[in-house]
Amino acid sequence: RKGNFDHFMLKEIFEQPESIVNTMRGRVNFENKTVKLGGLSNYISAIRRSRRIVMIACGTSYHSCLATRDLFEELTDIPISVEIASYFLDRRPPLFRDDTCIFVSQSGETADTILALKYCIERGAMCVGVVNGVGSAISRQTLCGVHINAGPEIGVASTKAYTSQYITLVMIALSLSEDRLSKQARRNEIIDGLGKISTQLEEVLTLNDKIQAVSETLVEKPKMLILGRGYQYATALEGALKIKEISYILAEGILTGELKHGPLALVDEDIPIIMIATKDKLFDKIINGIGQVTARSGKPIFIASQNGPTLVEGNKKGNGVTESETDPKTAEKSYVKFEVPETVDCLQGLLNVVILQIFGYWMAVKKGYNPDHPRNLAKAVTTE
Ligand code: UD1
Ligand code: BG6
Ligand code: NA
Repeated sequence: RKGNFDHFMLKEIFEQPESIVNTMRGRVNFENKTVKLGGLSNYISAIRRSRRIVMIACGTSYHSCLATRDLFEELTDIPISVEIASYFLDRRPPLFRDDTCIFVSQSGETADTILALKYCIERGAMCVGVVNGVGSAISRQTLCGVHINAGPEIGVASTKAYTSQYITLVMIALSLSEDRLSKQARRNEIIDGLGKISTQLEEVLTLNDKIQAVSETLVEKPKMLILGRGYQYATALEGALKIKEISYILAEGILTGELKHGPLALVDEDIPIIMIATKDKLFDKIINGIGQVTARSGKPIFIASQNGPTLVEGNKKGNGVTESETDPKTAEKSYVKFEVPETVDCLQGLLNVVILQIFGYWMAVKKGYNPDHPRNLAKAVTTE
């Protein structure tokens, strides 16, 4: 069942070019640039009229909500909040009949998410599921929803479910904005991006050997920082979760914009840092963040755009620095850089996250742990 792979996790990582196509099959029409979700067609106009959308989930599923929140805001102009199910339950926040709640869950059986669903049903909100498990509790108890059709996921560390949840949420945002002419150009651009994403993901997988080699240099370190901003904040959090759950390294996902408000104190020449620096509208701020890190002797590993701009400044003239080292292109050669194909900003996380999934996998294997069976964790947590 694992085919040529040693573990389900690696098999599922490598399945993603196919599983994301299955998620879109029969739903995205790439010629007419339309999206049709059978499970939502009778409810789309009601969701459009809601005064707020609340996305609720746990773990990796929560990160897929964060990854797509910006796009929901942009395409729908409806206020969006994203909630961790257990924290939502701790607070029991105000919720109304004109709210739409979207419950995202791979298994469809996570107790915290089911209890949050019950809370929202009791308050009369419209409850929508985004679930992998057909026939699961969340699929049954939600009024309507979308099955992500990623196929069974065995590895405890979720990988292909994340990319399929992400794509499903993008499809929902596209459906919700189908009536808005002003968003048509943007929608077309995203649908074109979805049409190419599987081939691009295959290209990312060819970096496996290089990631394996680089992971060797990181496994002895007890901690690690993963930095991202904007769309890539969710990628940083999800990458850090992958690494900590299976390699037990204290990996922390950090919003680059928050660096100077605390985490910069952790930066020195020793701590491993991965910085997500693919090109998007925040690029100037990303460069600024890189400067903050390198000025403290941090030596980030970059996840960057293929043939993208130079990310670091040249070395300062003086003491033993040769003329060529003052050239940014030469200076950059001393940094490890993974180059990822470029897609639409809101889809870039689908490609970037794969690098971090593979990092997590190899760090666990190199430390002698079985990535499919992390200690203390279960695939579906059915108690509160
Ligand atoms: C459905 C069929 C699919 C078939 C296709 C043909 C199922 C499970 N799916 O897919 O096999 O090829 O029609 O048009 O039989 N739902 C929830 N909550 C959730 C997820 C889904 O209530 O969390 C509901 C939906 O609202 C819908 C039903 O479950 O009524 C099936 O959802 P989904 O599989 O996404 O629908 P289709 O893609 O139309
Ligand atoms: C568990 C899993 O904690 O539940 C995680 O170990 C998962 O990988 C989380 O993200 C949420 O699960 P689900 O099935 O609701 O997506
Ligand atoms: Na249902």
